[in-house]
Amino acid sequence: MTHSVRMSTSIAPARPGADPESAPGSGPAAEAAGSEATGSESAVGPDGGWTSGAGPGGADDSTICDVDVIRVSGGARLAGQVHVVGAKNSALKLMAAALLAPGRSVITNVPRITDIAIMGEVLRRLGCQVSFADDEPVPSAERAGVAAAGGPEGVARSCSVTIEVPDAPGTEADYDLVRRLRASICVLGPLLARRGYVRVAHPGGDAIGSRGLDMHVAGLARMGAEISGEHGFVIASAPNGLRGATIWLDFPSVGATENLVMAAVLARGVTEIDNAAREPEIVDICTMLSQMGARIEGAGTSTLRIEGVAELHPVRHATVGDRIVAGTWAFAAAMTQGDVTVTGASPAFLEIALDKLVSAGCLVETRADAFRVQLDRRPSAVDVVTLPFPGFATDLLPMAIALASVSEGASLVTENIFDGRFMFVNEMARLGADIKTDGHHAVVRGRERLSSAPVRATDIRAGAGLVIAGLCADGVTEVSHVHHVDRGYPDFIADLRTLGVEVERATAPEEPAFTL
Ligand code: EPU
Repeated sequence: MTHSVRMSTSIAPARPGADPESAPGSGPAAEAAGSEATGSESAVGPDGGWTSGAGPGGADDSTICDVDVIRVSGGARLAGQVHVVGAKNSALKLMAAALLAPGRSVITNVPRITDIAIMGEVLRRLGCQVSFADDEPVPSAERAGVAAAGGPEGVARSCSVTIEVPDAPGTEADYDLVRRLRASICVLGPLLARRGYVRVAHPGGDAIGSRGLDMHVAGLARMGAEISGEHGFVIASAPNGLRGATIWLDFPSVGATENLVMAAVLARGVTEIDNAAREPEIVDICTMLSQMGARIEGAGTSTLRIEGVAELHPVRHATVGDRIVAGTWAFAAAMTQGDVTVTGASPAFLEIALDKLVSAGCLVETRADAFRVQLDRRPSAVDVVTLPFPGFATDLLPMAIALASVSEGASLVTENIFDGRFMFVNEMARLGADIKTDGHHAVVRGRERLSSAPVRATDIRAGAGLVIAGLCADGVTEVSHVHHVDRGYPDFIADLRTLGVEVERATAPEEPAFTL
């Protein structure tokens, strides 16, 4: 296993003919639908580092190329401690928020994942200077067992990103980057606020479903922006500046709330956003913006009140811990009847998820920034309904389905956020899971054990869900296209090993393409 972690400073152009929705590392033959970050010919190394160029194994052969796979042996009982670094879904937006103030902002506890490198490139093309430096590695006490298991003692999973923002950042984010990283749409609000004009490629949908922008657009229009769509771009202008407005969101959209807050902080007057998203990542952004001089009330509630200011100043800010990675370990502990302590993320961000695990039979102990999940019998089936925060997170849906697949009894799992989340259920069926879907409901009848098989990750969370499902299968499960997993989990393999799992990463040949 290689563990040299690096982040590229340049991005290779997409290969002509490559599927724009295929993700980095998937190679030219990949037809995988995109995930949070979508398509490119860039590769994520086994260490989660980001490299440019051809996919692993090269791309000279136009019919067969390699894909990264994780081979996981079933049967382990997860035990030990893992540390979680900053949340991808916060760090990406914090980087965009830096655009709001000229000068040098520093964001720490940023996960070392591809998406961050892509966002760095988005900012560079807007005229910023962006550099990455490793944070201190997690103390060895918190990574006990890694070296013994052959893992990378002392490898940093997080970094600090320094962003030098010019007085007049650029105003355009191109499709070649936006398609690789949907989250780059979050430069819309800050750039409109600072420059009065912005042109950002429309990111389109992805593997977990259609993903609209109507609430972003309608909210900015309420603030006085003129918005049009042309040739795949969203174009917004407010030559006389944005003005405060009252905005009611039809749905507490995370992305729309973020874009609107980042626009409102520099608007004239007061903006009120009702039915705002309440996710911890929104609170994190509001905290950073407040440190920059913004006036925001109500972060973490459904009503945000933002009084615009004339200018903001750069800051240093630490990213909030990743609740979804933390939750993934919590579910994996329950599924394997294990005993896992997770540090680095507040259990307060996972209240409903941890409560479900208690209903499943787990003993859950919590501290301010850590929690422990133990189970010494087969989990009991629990029903799960995904909802915006503080509801059960949609990003943990695959973990809930994986747990239900090995629980005693039947679970009803309902997805309310993304229409394509159940796509990965077909892969779970290959592992022998008994799942029937009907619209946005799935009935899962638990089995004592799953049956190992080759399966394919279709997005970040589905990939992680399949790996942890493999922990409860007989034999070795091979999950392919794990570049998806890399984008959300900085050091997944090392963490699994720390917890006692026999797991390896390898490259395997992709299926040949047949042509007439
Ligand atoms: N929606 C609209 N119109 C809009 C905005 C959203 O119809 O203008 C719909 C979407 O189509 C979707 C739903 O509202 O069906 C939720 O979208 P939301 O805006 O809340 O999500 P997002 O900002 O696109 C973020 C995370 C997702 C996470 C969701 C929900 C980032 C980069 N992504 O997406 O994370 O699932 O919030 O919590 O922050 C992941 O990390 O794997 C991931 C998918």
